[in-house]
Amino acid sequence: MIDVERARAETPGCEHVVHLNNAGSALMPQPVLDAVVRHLELEARMGGYEAHDASAEAIDRFYGATAELIGAAPEEIAFCSSATRAWDMAFYSFRFERGDRILTSVADYISNYLAFLQMAQRTGVEVVTVPNDEHGQVSVERLRELLDDRVKLIAITHVPTNGGLVNPVAGVGAIAREAAIPYLVDVCQSAGQLPVDVDAIGCDALSATGRKFLRGPRGTGFLYVRAELLERLNPPLIDMRAADWVAPDRYELRRDGRRFEEWEQDYAGKVGLARAVDYALEWGLDAIWERARTLGARLREQLADIEGVTVRDAGVEKCAIVTFDVEGFPAEEVKDLLRRDGINVSVSDTSSAVIESIERGLPDLVRASPHYYNTDAELDRIVECVNGLLR
Ligand SMILES: Cc1ncc(COP(=O)(O)O)c(C=O)c1O
Repeated sequence: MIDVERARAETPGCEHVVHLNNAGSALMPQPVLDAVVRHLELEARMGGYEAHDASAEAIDRFYGATAELIGAAPEEIAFCSSATRAWDMAFYSFRFERGDRILTSVADYISNYLAFLQMAQRTGVEVVTVPNDEHGQVSVERLRELLDDRVKLIAITHVPTNGGLVNPVAGVGAIAREAAIPYLVDVCQSAGQLPVDVDAIGCDALSATGRKFLRGPRGTGFLYVRAELLERLNPPLIDMRAADWVAPDRYELRRDGRRFEEWEQDYAGKVGLARAVDYALEWGLDAIWERARTLGARLREQLADIEGVTVRDAGVEKCAIVTFDVEGFPAEEVKDLLRRDGINVSVSDTSSAVIESIERGLPDLVRASPHYYNTDAELDRIVECVNGLLR
């Protein structure tokens, strides 16, 4: 059980806003804020390199904490500036040839699709979108039918940016393992919201961001690559963090996940993300998930009861992301009007999910995403405000 009062007391932002934009960027808790500020102050006082030495333990905790979060080993983790860069570093390490295939999902993330399209242009690899099943989630059966020698990568988004859907990533993982096809999962919207375990999912690589449900600082993210795959993946970009220059004409790549990192990093952000991950672990991911999805379900139900509001979330299992549209009000206007009332939400526009928006005829959507520190009273407030727009 989450002690909501304590969670709120440790979240300074709760005093100022009704923050239902955790899928955008969550409110940082005080311990994370303290860790970031402390490191920045140290840098200002003693110098950046010296602050790094002084905080080496807190900085290195990033690997242990993140590994613990996802059931991996610290050596399988890389620190990145975002989920997108983390995903890119894995994706662009794979080699594709004309005739190869990548299998992905309808609701995959926009930047992942952009990379697929660029890779298709460059190499002739075919990007195959696995159809959804009758519940609007990736069809595990259809994916199985699409498997053959041409498939060189399966890349799926766990929780998409534009809705409450939780894709059946473990079902896909079981098939990927059976067929020995590398499997890359985008857990950007699920990390910190629900338990994510690399063995339970059966993935070979996974990417996430710091600022969303993990409640870390902006400009942080991480990549996991399974030890067995690590040494076979040649990063698309390297520097002196990723490799040693061992002779005038020779370099050697690091053997661990840090081969995907940059030498220069946002160390205040890294310390902050380490603290954020530990903070999530202290609450417990099961407890966080239980509360987050309960709040999501409550909000979904309340909004669906309003005449003129259409809730759009698909899937068998739904998370704390709630998307909807309001008759007669563009999503952007709803967001602005709510902001004036001190309520933060965001907009998922159709261009961020082109295939799904076309297939389902979706308009731009308002996205409200509570987290465990939100209250029923806050949900009532947004419901009241949306109701007010229509009356
Ligand atoms: C599913 C998904 N993947 C990836 C990203 C990208 O994260 P970042 O902005 O940290 O690169 C997002 C951001 O909204 C997302 O929703």
